[in-house]
Amino acid sequence: CGIVGYVGPRDSQAILLAGLSRLEYRGYDSAGIAVIDGDGDLGMRKRAGKLKMLRDDLEAHPLPDGTTGIGHTRWATHGGPTDTNAHPHLADDDKLAVIHNGIIENFAEIKADLLSEGYTFRSETDTEAAAVLLGREYRAAGGDLEAAFRAVVSRLEGAFTLLAMHEDHPGLVVGARRNSPLVIGLGEGENFLGSDVAAFVEHTRNALAIGQDQIVSITPSGVTVTDFFGDEVEVEPFEVLWDAAAADKGGWSSFMAKEISEEPEAVANTILGRTRDGQVVIPELDGLDDLFAGIQRVIIVACGTAAYAGMVGKYAIEQWARVPVDVELAHEFRYRDPVIGADTLVVSISQSGETMDTLMAVKYARERGARTLSICNTQGATIPRESDAIVYTHAGPEVAVASTKAFVAQITALYLLGLHVGRVRGTVGATEAAQHVLELESIPDKIRRILSNEQERIEQFAHWMADTRSVLFLGRHVGYPIALEGALKLKELAYIHAEGFAAGELKHGPIALIEPGQPVFVIVPSPRESAELQKKVVSNIEEIRARGARVIAIAEEGDAAVLPYADEVLHIPLAGPLFEPLLAVVPLHIFAMGLSMAKGLDVDQPRNLAKSVTVE
Ligand code: G6P
Repeated sequence: CGIVGYVGPRDSQAILLAGLSRLEYRGYDSAGIAVIDGDGDLGMRKRAGKLKMLRDDLEAHPLPDGTTGIGHTRWATHGGPTDTNAHPHLADDDKLAVIHNGIIENFAEIKADLLSEGYTFRSETDTEAAAVLLGREYRAAGGDLEAAFRAVVSRLEGAFTLLAMHEDHPGLVVGARRNSPLVIGLGEGENFLGSDVAAFVEHTRNALAIGQDQIVSITPSGVTVTDFFGDEVEVEPFEVLWDAAAADKGGWSSFMAKEISEEPEAVANTILGRTRDGQVVIPELDGLDDLFAGIQRVIIVACGTAAYAGMVGKYAIEQWARVPVDVELAHEFRYRDPVIGADTLVVSISQSGETMDTLMAVKYARERGARTLSICNTQGATIPRESDAIVYTHAGPEVAVASTKAFVAQITALYLLGLHVGRVRGTVGATEAAQHVLELESIPDKIRRILSNEQERIEQFAHWMADTRSVLFLGRHVGYPIALEGALKLKELAYIHAEGFAAGELKHGPIALIEPGQPVFVIVPSPRESAELQKKVVSNIEEIRARGARVIAIAEEGDAAVLPYADEVLHIPLAGPLFEPLLAVVPLHIFAMGLSMAKGLDVDQPRNLAKSVTVE
C-alpha cells in the first residue's frame, strides 16, 4: 500500500492526490483521503478501484479544503477491495482517521477485546482494529494523541506503517513504522510523510529516514521522532537524488514504455562513479574489504524479477570471485533452516527495498550471523538500512509495476560487485577486470541500438501475436534466467500462460508441450563468443522445429547459423558471453509490453499485482 501525510499552509487534498498518484504503483485496488478542514472538522472520502475513482468522486462531490491530511492507496490483504474496506478508517465518533500499510497479526485478539467492550466495527480490515483501539486510548490519555499512539503501536504485532490524525489536533499527523516503510519530507512551513520519497519529491528533496520501531509527529513547523517509549531519537537526513520529472510519464504512452527506453541509462548510471583507471572501485564499499575476506559462500535472496537478476549474477560472481553462489527465493530461504554463518555473505536484491519476503530473509540472515549486502534502487528504504553494506542501482524511479530498467541495473550492480569481490579476493587480475569493465561500459549503446533498430518491429510482431494463448522461452547458461524473465513479464503484463526453460532440460519433459504452431522464443548464445553453447542451442531449436514449434530466435546480428531454423529473428549486438543477458532481455521486455498493449491491457498496473509487496 502507499501512504502519504501532509501538514502545512497549502490545500492538502491536491498534495495528497498528487502523492497518491506517485505511489499508486504500490497498490491500486482502492484509495482514500482524510483532511481536517478550516472549521476543524475531519472529512473523509474513499473508493474501491483505482485512484481515478476517488478523484472523480471528489470532483463531483468536493470535500472542504484543509491543511492537514492523510491519504492511502491500497493493495488488499484483510478484506476485499470495497469502499468500506478502503482506508482511512475512522474512530472516536469519526473524529480520528487512521491509515495503514502492512499486516497487524494480532488484530483478531484486539478486535475481540474491543467488541467485548461494546465498540463496533464497519469493515473486515485489520486496520480498523488499530483505529478503534487508538480511539479508546485517546480517551484514556485525556486527548493526548501522541501518548495514545504510543500505547497502540506498542500493542501491535506484525508489520505496519500507521498514520493518524484527530480533528482536535489540526496541524498534527503522527506516524509509526515497524518492518514497513515511512520517510519524512522536510519543507518550509510544511512537512510530509510518505511510503517512499516519490510521495513528496515534487515539493522537497530534504528527507529523513525513520528507523525501525520509531514514531514521528509532524506539524507545519517541525518534526519529532521518538522510539515507542517516547524517547527522542536521532534520525538520518538525506538528499533525494531523484528529480520529480524523473517520476513523470513525460510524453510516453506508459511508464513502462518510458522505463524500457531508460534501460541504457539505468546501466550507465549504475556504472557511473564506480570505475577508476579501468578498474571497478565501488565507493560505498570503501573500507569494507573485511566483508568479503574469508567468505566461503554467497547466497543471493530476492523475489520476482530481482531473483532472475540474481541468477544471472551467480554466473559472473562465481566466475570472477571464485566463490560458490546460491540464488534463493527470499520467502523459501528462511523457512528451511539454511546452513549459514559468519562466513556467508547474503546479498539481497530489491528494486523497492521494501519487499517483505526479502526483508525478512535479510533479518534472518543477520540473526544467524551472516554478513549482508543490499542491492537496492530506492534511497532510505528498509532493506538497505538493515544490511551491512549497500550498492545502489541508479535506475531512477521505476513506476510501472513490472520491473524492466531496474532489472538491467541489478545485473550491472551484481557484475560490479563480482569484479569488486574478485579484486579483494585476488581472483581476478587487473587486465581481465579492465576488459570486463570495457564490455560493461559498451552495453548502454548496444541497448540503444536494439531500441532504435528493433523496437518497432517487435511491437508489430507482438501485435500479430495478440491471440496467442501460450508462449515458451528457452535459454542456456545466462540465457536461462533471461528465459524465465521473458516468461514472467508475459504473465504479468499480458496474462498469457508462459514458461521459461533451460534449453537442455526441454528433452527431459517439457518438449511434450510442443505442438504445431507453439511459439517458442529461444535465446541463442553468440557463435563467436560461445560457439560450443551456440551449437547446443541450435540443436535444441532443431528438436522443437521438428515438432512444429514456431521459433523466434534472439540472436546476434550476423549469426547465419540460426537463420534456417528460425521463423523470426530478433537481433541483438555482439557481446561477451556473460554480458549477453543485458541485451537479450530488452526484446523480451518490448515484446511483453507490446502484447499487453495489443490486448488493450493496463501495461503499468496489471491486475492483482503491486510493485512493492510489503506483506509476507
Ligand atoms: C513484486 C513486483 C515484481 C518485483 C517483485 C520484487 O512482486 O510485482 O515486479 O519483481 O515484487 O520487487 P523488489 O522491489 O523487491 O525488487
